[in-house]
Amino acid sequence: MKKILDLIAGELKPIFAQCGYDEAYAKVNLSNRPDLCEYQCNGAMAAAKAYRKKPIEIAGEVVEKAAGNPMFAEISAVMPGFINIRLNGEWLADYLNGMREQKKLGLEEPEKPETIIVDYGGANVAKPLHVGHLRAAIIGESVKRMGSFLGHHVIGDVHLGDWGLQMGLIIEELRDRKPDLPYFDENFQGEYPQEPPFTISELEEIYPAASAKSKEDSEAGRAFKERAQTATFRLQNGYAPYRAIWQHIMNVSLADLKKNYDSLNVHFDLWKGESDAQPYIPGLIQDLIDKGLAYESQGALVVDIAEETDSKELPPCIIRKSDGAALYATSDLATIVEREKDFHPDHYIYVVDKRQDLHFTQVFRVAKKAGIVSPDRKMDFLGFGTMNGRDGKPYKTREGGVMRLERLIAEVNEAAYQKIMDNRTVSQEEARETAKIVGLSALKYGDLSNQAAKDYVFDIDRFTSFEGNTGPYILYTIVRIKSILSKDGGQSCGPILPSVTEAERALQLEITKYNEVLNTSFEEIAPHKICQYVYDLSNACNRFYHDTRIITEENQAQKASWLSLVSLAKDVLEVCIGLLGIEAPDRM
Ligand code: ARG
Repeated sequence: MKKILDLIAGELKPIFAQCGYDEAYAKVNLSNRPDLCEYQCNGAMAAAKAYRKKPIEIAGEVVEKAAGNPMFAEISAVMPGFINIRLNGEWLADYLNGMREQKKLGLEEPEKPETIIVDYGGANVAKPLHVGHLRAAIIGESVKRMGSFLGHHVIGDVHLGDWGLQMGLIIEELRDRKPDLPYFDENFQGEYPQEPPFTISELEEIYPAASAKSKEDSEAGRAFKERAQTATFRLQNGYAPYRAIWQHIMNVSLADLKKNYDSLNVHFDLWKGESDAQPYIPGLIQDLIDKGLAYESQGALVVDIAEETDSKELPPCIIRKSDGAALYATSDLATIVEREKDFHPDHYIYVVDKRQDLHFTQVFRVAKKAGIVSPDRKMDFLGFGTMNGRDGKPYKTREGGVMRLERLIAEVNEAAYQKIMDNRTVSQEEARETAKIVGLSALKYGDLSNQAAKDYVFDIDRFTSFEGNTGPYILYTIVRIKSILSKDGGQSCGPILPSVTEAERALQLEITKYNEVLNTSFEEIAPHKICQYVYDLSNACNRFYHDTRIITEENQAQKASWLSLVSLAKDVLEVCIGLLGIEAPDRM
């Protein structure tokens, strides 16, 4: 179905043309004065300049010709030259009935679906997942779902950090703890064991221990770090025993990571990582040299990326360090080479901490300069801010440590459980189960309702509240509608009729924004706009619900219409929260 704004503009365009004005002036917006009208066209104001006329004259001519159009209940020219519009009630009801029948509730899908890579998650293997990774997972998952629902071919890639110094640190710590393992015997000839030399809990403890050791300001600390660097280097150059340990680290760690992401309801199509890009690095570097882009600077190999229009000076992108090691940027470029080969995407979206802004500017520019992607390829960096505690500093545990994701989730679930029990409508067991769904909604909505680039304060109390702009409030609205519908068996739904009250009209209009909101939110890669919409829609639902005695209504056609209206609102809400990675329980 077409968006209402476009449908109205479609009616006004030929009229503008008939009156002798360019039809491009027939652009329609939602009114910012809902007390005066529902929609507004400000084209007469813009046209006035071009045609040297008074805006109100132009508006008047258009309105005169539009009068009697069955789509409008009212269309009027208002000083200095606004065209104010109210929709005809029958027309609006028809539009809503159309939404009920169409697939995806009448969503307008793109003419040409794109292949889109969403690079999000970015967990580092063998390091514990912490809240820093939470935002990448939550926001990226939503972006991915939005794109797919609109009909694009979206591929979500976790892009693991699986190739860094942490691997060397673990290898050397393992050597210190278990020197007899065959991986450390240079003369070992046989097959390496199938069984990993550690469990996940050991691994979780090995990395922080090794990391602390390497940071010690002592002879031993420095020596350990050097060993770890050498081990990393050997691993990266294919030394078989270390590759074998690496594989164990990957197997054990990935199983755990998957579990964690599952509990967040975050699912990736690809479980690739930096290691997968390694085979492409030598060719990439050669290509950059051959094209005359990469040159030596203080022993390192770099590519200039500065452009004349830059407001500040941007440093060159380092492709290879003086010791021969490839860097983070090299690995991201090689990953693009790989993705071009595998998917040739139309669009790349990276959901990563905004502090990596410069890194991605460098990577995108090198990729374009080198022709790895075409100059007009869409490459977006959605940089997100920090999740802070109430003290305004990055979120920590009460003891001041970095908060583990599992613990954070447990705390949110507990808070949600308490709130559900306060409500006293379900049993303890049910409340426990429901708390998982409600807790996750609190966590995700609390994050997504902020513009991604902004830092935000994580406030469990506020996020789990059943009132205000929160996940649980949205779920509560849905649950309430489900309960109305179940009281009535949901059977007596009928065609939606023109509205009879103001609250009903407001709800109808709010529902019709769905199409526009979903398209715009994805175009702007802005899940917070979906949150804003579900909040407005929930408010409209609750106001209507308070205003209207649906269940006891005696006029059966009226009752059936209202039931359909709330049912449609529920469907819209459920689609939208699904795009946020949230689902609603049946009761709470
Ligand atoms: N592993 C990285 C980190 O923890 C994030 C990876 C983001 N994605 C990318 N293609 N660089 O900072």
